[in-house]
Amino acid sequence: GTTLVSPRSPTSLVLPELTSLRGSITSMLGSSHPALDRIAGYYFAAEGKHVRPLIVLLMAQAANGVAPGYERLREEDRKTQGAELDAEISPTGILNDVNPRRTVFAAPESENILCTQRRLADISEMIHVASLLHDDVLDEAALRRGAPSAPAAFGNKLAVLAGDFLLGRASVALARLGNLEVVELLATVLANLVEGEVLQLQAQQASEDALAAAPSPSVSLDTSAFWRVTPACPEDAPSEQLFESYLHKTYLKTAALMAKSARAAVILGGCGKADEGEVVERRKEQTRDAAYAFGRNLGIAFQLVDDMLDFRSTSAAFGKPSGGADLRLGIATAPVLFAWQEAPAEARMGEMVRRKFGGEGDVPKALALVEASQGLQRTAKLAQHHVDLALDALAVLPHSEARDALAQLARGVLTRSK
Ligand code: FPP
Ligand code: MG
Ligand code: MG
Repeated sequence: GTTLVSPRSPTSLVLPELTSLRGSITSMLGSSHPALDRIAGYYFAAEGKHVRPLIVLLMAQAANGVAPGYERLREEDRKTQGAELDAEISPTGILNDVNPRRTVFAAPESENILCTQRRLADISEMIHVASLLHDDVLDEAALRRGAPSAPAAFGNKLAVLAGDFLLGRASVALARLGNLEVVELLATVLANLVEGEVLQLQAQQASEDALAAAPSPSVSLDTSAFWRVTPACPEDAPSEQLFESYLHKTYLKTAALMAKSARAAVILGGCGKADEGEVVERRKEQTRDAAYAFGRNLGIAFQLVDDMLDFRSTSAAFGKPSGGADLRLGIATAPVLFAWQEAPAEARMGEMVRRKFGGEGDVPKALALVEASQGLQRTAKLAQHHVDLALDALAVLPHSEARDALAQLARGVLTRSK
């Protein structure tokens, strides 16, 4: 790979694993169909940010050793070097076609990472890329990572099938990790991704329901402070429930994968449920919860910034269409919801949201309303809040270079430009 690192970048601690990530994944993708090989590997050929593998690898480093069982896992790991993760089941068995052109398993080189965790990093990226293949069909995206999208290059049918193929191979790799708690977590993520997309698809309906419903007096969300404004909102202003529903969608489509992969990483390091006595079990539970909270809040911040960049970036820097691309898809993200709340009733933002910006001149008008509002600044503040929560979560972990790198990764979310 050609991942750029400065000496203090969060990637430098796990550089060998990030560098071999692409090869490790590609080694799991060989099929007997050249067209399937080409499209399944297509997004891995372009330069990705590899945020999910980075979270998994650094979280593994930061939490390994917390559980007393880690030493035994590490010894076992040294002996097998991941052979059982990579071996063909049997020369004649039904799974020996898993990969006819399999290469050697890329065992971890960096300090304090297990083969299973190294493989979990691959799996998290495979699930992410599978979701992108489907997403680019749903969004009719022309560009991804600075090049024609997979559906643009190969057609919708092959793009959908390639996503399914990636999920199939990721599932085989997941099963081979031999940990049912981890299988359950990642399987749940697949459902979460779909739920998030459906929620987004039906946001129009959700906004109608929310408008019909009386404003909820008891708001459970800890981010509600970011929603309330003075003076009072216009009559047709979006409800707090709509805002909550947007944040829930954001968790499902982006943060769930980061949160549950991070939790799975520490479970593979020995922090899974067992019967090691009350004190140890409590410590492990705290570690699992910290990993989850870190991934969840980082993920929400990450998507909030993505939704901001959709208004700010030019295609050239971002590698995908922007300058209101979400508006053109009919999707109202945080900057729009904030702008709608602030806009005078005459601006008719609510009507535009409900018709998914499909009216004549809706998109430029909504863009101007967002620009004239505090929408982007308020979105940035909310993202900052979630980064702070991610940083708080790290306090449970022992001090280490990996923990510092996770903190730096979280802070970097706010300043990213692509
Ligand atoms: C990108 O969002 C898309 C996602 C984060 C999730 C997409 C999930 C699905 C399509 C459900 C199917 C899931 C699987 C596992 C096959 P975006 O469109 O806002 O971002 P973009 O600008 O990068 O396209
Ligand atoms: Mg998209
Ligand atoms: Mg999408």
